[in-house]
Amino acid sequence: MSDTSNRPVLVVDFGAQYAQLIARRVREAQVYSEVVPHTAGVSEILDKNPLAIVLSGGPSSVYEEGAPQIDPKLFETGVPVFGICYGFQAMARALGGEVSHTGTREYGRTDLSVPTEGGALHQELPASHPVWMSHGDAVTKAPEGFTVTATSEGAPVAAFEDTERRFAGVQYHPEVHHSPHGQEVLRRFLHDVAGIRPQWTTSSIVDEQVARIREQIGDGKAICGLSGGVDSAVAAALVQRAIGDRLTCVFVDHGLLRAGERAQVERDYVAATGINLVTVDARERFLGALAGVTDPEEKRKIIGREFIRVFEQAERDLKAEGDYRFLVQGTLYPDVVESGGGAGTANIKSHHNVGGLPDDLQFELVEPLRALFKDEVRRVGTELGLPETIVQRQPFPGPGLGIRIIGEVTQDRLDTLRQADAIAREELTAAGLDRSIWQCPVVLLADVRSVGVQGDGRTYGHPIVLRPVSSEDAMTADWTRLPYEVLERISTRITNEVAEVNRVVLDVTSKPPGTIEWE
Ligand code: XMP
Repeated sequence: MSDTSNRPVLVVDFGAQYAQLIARRVREAQVYSEVVPHTAGVSEILDKNPLAIVLSGGPSSVYEEGAPQIDPKLFETGVPVFGICYGFQAMARALGGEVSHTGTREYGRTDLSVPTEGGALHQELPASHPVWMSHGDAVTKAPEGFTVTATSEGAPVAAFEDTERRFAGVQYHPEVHHSPHGQEVLRRFLHDVAGIRPQWTTSSIVDEQVARIREQIGDGKAICGLSGGVDSAVAAALVQRAIGDRLTCVFVDHGLLRAGERAQVERDYVAATGINLVTVDARERFLGALAGVTDPEEKRKIIGREFIRVFEQAERDLKAEGDYRFLVQGTLYPDVVESGGGAGTANIKSHHNVGGLPDDLQFELVEPLRALFKDEVRRVGTELGLPETIVQRQPFPGPGLGIRIIGEVTQDRLDTLRQADAIAREELTAAGLDRSIWQCPVVLLADVRSVGVQGDGRTYGHPIVLRPVSSEDAMTADWTRLPYEVLERISTRITNEVAEVNRVVLDVTSKPPGTIEWE
């Protein structure tokens, strides 16, 4: 590995929710990136020894009072800079160009015109092609030394570059899919203008993390709680690759899992990794603690509390056998950026933390996914040979089926829901829809009775709700337009095969106002 692979491209967050997306796109160009708030000063930025700086879009006009500015000293450091949208305008201003209210706002899909010469960023792209714009002000004069390499109706200067000083910028958003050539433009900036070698690959991530884990853990021992989800599975597999048998995983079966999930961990995951696994069968304990409880937040609290108790017992048992000082957690980069607080996009998420562990654990944390985005975690999982069922698993809440039974959680109801859920999943997978759905909660309205007719008799059963959603990050979601034939198959099979269910309904609510889960 060359010594530049750890140096980041820094994406300066001006607060428009695009910074993380830009950071992901930079990594797709195989260059390591990190997000920093726009309040970071030049010296703080230089301390990170960046290979380049990307100034992100932002919500404000450069003329707005309190609009974030750029310290012009940034451009004297010799570090390559790429400005996007607001960052492009702020850059133009800082370097002596002009930004004005042209009166022509552009929002959404816009045609970009590229002259024949096109410069380093746009040469040989179609002379006219769509880009995603979102601006009121426009750069009307490029700073001295810059060439204008694209225009649009509302942006006389829609892209500029000074390849000598390794500066460039675009008015549009290259990071979104609505700008089909955007990734290529970003790639050209990073590789061709800034001269960065593409070295951030899945195998380099694995090598680097394994080396770091070895350094941190030395000859100590580590514990990892597995949930059945992607993050803990990949984190554990990385640590296992680094320290082998000195890692022990703990899997708590709380009885609220879906059909086949325990086997996926106990059989498939262990077969793929050779990991040491302790399963704690705590099904009865959870069922007992949940008896009579119908309030969703109360259920979450109970499940969270019991989970911690069970895990702590497992931990005491292990500590009695060996020197387990390290705890592995699957914290991802977005959690790190988002919990950093401060300005910008940081604070949007208020996340449920059921299944999380208390702060006073006597452990040193090992977090091998702290620098990674979810898609990178999946690729690392594949690289480590984990089963597809785990690597591609859709999100599933920690409290599991406990919050998908509307009403009290009982063994019978769990069995009913598990059967219905398995049918829905089977049919969605068979129809090839797994990748186009973010997740599809299947909910049992246990406290509702619906009348039906089967054979000669009337039935009095329960409705099942299907809640297929499409989403980027679960913050917002839309209901997925599933093909009618698929819905029909799911409905027919559930009502035929699951005894207690005589009705299947489809949830057609977006988020907001509805949440993804029903409880
Ligand atoms: P909502 O229902 O808030 O869900 O739209 C957003 C995402 O979070 C998941 N979710 C949970 N995850 N513990 C979890 O670990 C919980 O209590 C919980 N509640 C919701 C939900 O499945 C979706 O992906």
